[in-house]
Amino acid sequence: MRRIDYDTELYRDYARGRALTEQQLRAWIAAFGARLPDRRPLAGLDVGSGTGRFTPALARGFGPVTGIEPAVRMREIAQAQSQHPGVRYLAGSAEDMPVPSGSADYALMFLSWHHIQDKTRAVRELARVLRPAGRLLLRSNFSDHIPPSGWWLEYFPRGFEVDAAMFQPLHEVIAAFTSAGWRVASFGTVTEPSSGPRRDVLPLLRLRTHSTFAHFTPDELETGFGRLQRAIAADPGAPAPADDATLLTLERR
Ligand SMILES: C[S@@+](CC[C@H](N)C(=O)[O-])C[C@H]1O[C@@H](n2cnc3c(N)ncnc32)[C@H](O)[C@@H]1O
Repeated sequence: MRRIDYDTELYRDYARGRALTEQQLRAWIAAFGARLPDRRPLAGLDVGSGTGRFTPALARGFGPVTGIEPAVRMREIAQAQSQHPGVRYLAGSAEDMPVPSGSADYALMFLSWHHIQDKTRAVRELARVLRPAGRLLLRSNFSDHIPPSGWWLEYFPRGFEVDAAMFQPLHEVIAAFTSAGWRVASFGTVTEPSSGPRRDVLPLLRLRTHSTFAHFTPDELETGFGRLQRAIAADPGAPAPADDATLLTLERR
């Protein structure tokens, strides 16, 4: 599939289009906390931190965080919005992080794993930057877990197919890590609460800040948004469904 460049395509509307409600952010931080050691502070890495949707909340919850992000414009927006002294953002990628070896207790990769070009190198680099027993919280969809997260996908022709093609099957991701000596600490779903009424979510979806939209044809986009609009018009107050999102936790030995 074609590579998405966040510096040219999505940076402008990402923060608005993908904003989380307070309740959603709380649900995620609680889910991460349940998968991390109890001691505080923990030194964290937010790998592929984007516009910093999670980074300040990670710092508030667990301790100082370094966001690693290759796209200059995503990083600039994150920096402009950062409101926590325990947050810094650095240019880098999962394959090459400008931080010392063994300096982090955990890393979060939230919807960034499928963008990684050299996954073997990323696994090696993640093992380098984490301390022994450090944890990787890998939030991704997996091509063999249908339906994937994204309630709106069903309205788009080939919606599930297009989404699945962006992601690896779970066993392939696990093998990439276990073959390099990691172990699976847990795998499951996290319920992300509703984003609010579907009628309020539609204009945000129209910003097309989910990279999935880049893989639809213009006809599929028109059909999908048309169906979505009609479904919402038929029941304007209906809330967007809560989302069961898959989260894989890996431990570096
Ligand atoms: C869907 S966004 C997720 C951003 C953020 N984690 C969030 O949930 O809002 C994917 C991010 O991964 C970044 N990315 C792309 N290639 C990467 C790489 N090799 N290493 C780390 N991040 C990468 C993109 O620039 C983009 O900011």
